[in-house]
Amino acid sequence: EADLSSKLPLKGKKILITAGPTYEAIDPVRFIGNHSSGKMGFDIANEAANLGAEVILISGPTHFKVKNSQINLIRVVSAQQMYEACHEFYNDVDVAIAAAAVADYRPKKVAEQKIKKSEASFTIELEKTKDILASLGEIKKNQFLIGFALETENEIENAKLKIQKKNLDLIVLNSLQDEGAGFGKPTNKVTFIDKDFSIEPMELKSKEDVAVDIINKIINHYHA
Ligand code: CTP
Ligand code: CA
Repeated sequence: EADLSSKLPLKGKKILITAGPTYEAIDPVRFIGNHSSGKMGFDIANEAANLGAEVILISGPTHFKVKNSQINLIRVVSAQQMYEACHEFYNDVDVAIAAAAVADYRPKKVAEQKIKKSEASFTIELEKTKDILASLGEIKKNQFLIGFALETENEIENAKLKIQKKNLDLIVLNSLQDEGAGFGKPTNKVTFIDKDFSIEPMELKSKEDVAVDIINKIINHYHA
């Protein structure tokens, strides 16, 4: 049991966090990726570790490093590797937070040799990756499961659908409406929606402070 009165309210808790982008290979020298820096996931990991949690941080390619010895950083590249690493640890954790910007599609075939520019046009056939978060929701036991949602339209409605589809306890809806928020920015504008669909919009704030808010949600969960 976590000691909630102490300065280390997450002591005794194990938290799995995914972070960063994934890279999906096209050929030996090329990939499909995205602009996620990994900052949000690393900030959550640092905050959780500072409050006493044992953290397993599974990250796609990013330049961030970890300083806290309470964080076990596992570096992966592709969505499939992130999926496998998550399932290796998930049964054993109390909380899982999916902050990674996982590629939704990957090239169906990875060319063994560098693709030459011989054709005038060139098509890459894509197939869906596994939905890591949904797969964790499917086998959820006692884990408190937190996802993110990035939406550009019908934000609240779409986020609620994701809570149901992925069997989440809480979703962090990332709003791109605000110019200061999102990919490559130091700030985020988020709205929390829990599994009972209660909605809590937050102010625009630094990703460090959003991480604090997310960790407070976890602490409150174990208080209740
Ligand atoms: N996610 C995941 N594995 C995937 C895709 C997404 O674990 N293959 C997780 C993300 O880490 C995030 C949540 O699912 O916590 C929602 O991601 P998002 O891209 O907003 O939604 P999708 O379910 O991928 O749907 P879409 O992109 O079509 O909106
Ligand atoms: Ca997606």
